[in-house]
Amino acid sequence: MGSILVNGCIPLQGKVRIQGSKNAALPILAACLLVEGDVWLENCPKIADVYRMIRILRSLGCMAVWEGRGLHINTNRMNCGELPAEAVTGMRSSLFLLGALIGRNREVFMEYPGGCVIGKRPIDIHLDALSRMGVVFEEKDGMLHARTSQPEGCEYLLPFPSVGATENMILAAVMARGVTIVRGAAREPEVVSLCEFLNACGADIEGVGTDELRIEGGLPLSGIVFRIPPDRIVAGTYLFATMITAGSVLLEQAPVKHMEEVIRVAESMGAECQETREGLFVQGPGRPVCPERISTQVYPGFPTDLQSMLLVCCCVAEGESRIWETIFENRFRIVEPLQQMGANLWMEGTQTVCVKGVERLAGQTVEARELRGGAALVLAGLTAYGDTRITGTEFIDRGYENICRDLRELGARITSV
Ligand code: UD1
Repeated sequence: MGSILVNGCIPLQGKVRIQGSKNAALPILAACLLVEGDVWLENCPKIADVYRMIRILRSLGCMAVWEGRGLHINTNRMNCGELPAEAVTGMRSSLFLLGALIGRNREVFMEYPGGCVIGKRPIDIHLDALSRMGVVFEEKDGMLHARTSQPEGCEYLLPFPSVGATENMILAAVMARGVTIVRGAAREPEVVSLCEFLNACGADIEGVGTDELRIEGGLPLSGIVFRIPPDRIVAGTYLFATMITAGSVLLEQAPVKHMEEVIRVAESMGAECQETREGLFVQGPGRPVCPERISTQVYPGFPTDLQSMLLVCCCVAEGESRIWETIFENRFRIVEPLQQMGANLWMEGTQTVCVKGVERLAGQTVEARELRGGAALVLAGLTAYGDTRITGTEFIDRGYENICRDLRELGARITSV
């Protein structure tokens, strides 16, 4: 099990380049299965979840080769090989293969997808939406078997704007017969990226960025060069890291227009944020001030993926906060390790945490139990007196190219051991 060692209390200074977005790259990698010819994905993040998706594509007979920061993919020679169980169960994004393989192959046989243990994370909306498109599901020996003679366009209202279910519908709909209308669609920037990628390949998706998508199915898709946008969650992680260390940092290429609510919250806590030609410049306050009450929301609200980093920031801020998690029910697994480090926070029911800021946290050995919570514990280490050891860093590697390198470049004393 890997660990990260941090010696805290150093203000971060300098600039850091923001990597490509994990949540944009993964569905686009699945979408490559629908494209004829060569695709070049520039700025593709080199993270464990992308490596997993590449392993899955290769096991299906596809070509996927790194060329510098870019990834060259050709899926023309795909066979109907078995999906590697380890790669599918280890990551929720393998769920995108369902929509993509239904689109390409009309049949999928796969394990139930895994991912971070941040809640029950059912897949009922994915299954219901695809069933409406004529896909029949069966469970055999704990595996999911999906098949159809051809996906059919339909009108579907999502009961909740699920990011993954919206993306799965889009993937199946571009290969379907006729038109698909998705109402109540997720509007996250990563859904927009998937639509922009598919449209650039030749698809016809209207309403991109709104909650109603109209997808004309059956158009041929051909290879392109596409740039994966910068990761708004990684940018937000480093924004909060700057805040809690009273640092001043330029987040190069930060996708400022997709971070409006995060920037608003940071400013309300005392940060100064300025958009520049290169990205976002952040100046942390001497000591942040707790926002009174924050709840996570679907885009454009405050993202659930940054809730843990905000929580760490509140732990060392002045005043009291209540943070209400509305998207995933198990995203407070870092409460206990933060308490070990001397933070004053407690649960109110199962979905709200109350925090009373303390001056400083104290270094401890703590365990990362999921991706975003793990990154938040690194932030806790940056603000703590003494040494903090974070174990279980495999979780962090799923979404951050090299969090130690990035923070070291900003002056932090941090190593991976
Ligand atoms: C995606 C992101 C994740 C982010 C989340 C919310 C990727 C790879 N992951 O996850 O980082 O935190 O969006 O912005 O892009 N739900 C159901 N039934 C379903 C599907 C979802 O009840 O069939 C529920 C979930 O349990 C959860 C909520 O809907 O409570 C949101 O899930 P969803 O938007 O689907 O998140 P993901 O696509 O899994």
